Amino acid sequence: MCNPHLSLPIQWKLLLLFFSLTQLLHFSHGDVGTASQYDPPYLPTACYGDDSSQFPDNNLFGAAGEGIWDNGASCGRQYLVSCLSASEKGTCVDGVTIQIKIVENASSAVSQASSSGTTIVLSATAFASIANSTASKINIEFQQV
Ligand SMILES: *[C@@H]1O[C@H](CO)[C@@H](O)[C@H](O)[C@H]1NC(C)=O
Ligand SMILES: *[C@@H]1O[C@H](CO)[C@@H](O)[C@H](O)[C@H]1NC(C)=O
Repeated sequence: MCNPHLSLPIQWKLLLLFFSLTQLLHFSHGDVGTASQYDPPYLPTACYGDDSSQFPDNNLFGAAGEGIWDNGASCGRQYLVSCLSASEKGTCVDGVTIQIKIVENASSAVSQASSSGTTIVLSATAFASIANSTASKINIEFQQV
């Protein structure tokens, strides 16, 4: 006998399975990399020259390292960034994800990064939002928006 009420729990289970799978796919979307930080002066930038209006009002921006610079195509791209770990325990601000805009080429930035060769160089404000600002390098998870 096919009782329609008995099939309901199975549909719910499938629905739950579907949602947990999409959650899983969502979380595995991000890449793992590293981030350092840089201080002002931030101008001029390789992306926008002397145009300071390109900086987001919340000062959450960064410079693209070699891996994501993409010949300048990365200018204006937005990334979600969170801190995963660092050499010193307790460096990350857990549970915080910021959205940053790429405005600069890490190799040609006016001011030097706190650590060379990182995936992204974050503005001082951006870095301090996800990690202890005294750190020079952190491991991050990042994902283009
Ligand atoms: C940007 O950085 C790359 C290396 O990541 C470098 O080869 C290139 O010359 C730089 N371009 C500009 C416009 O600064
Ligand atoms: C940040 O790191 C420094 C150096 O390790 C430490 O002295 C300070 O207590 C840390 N600050 C916070 C808020 O964890």
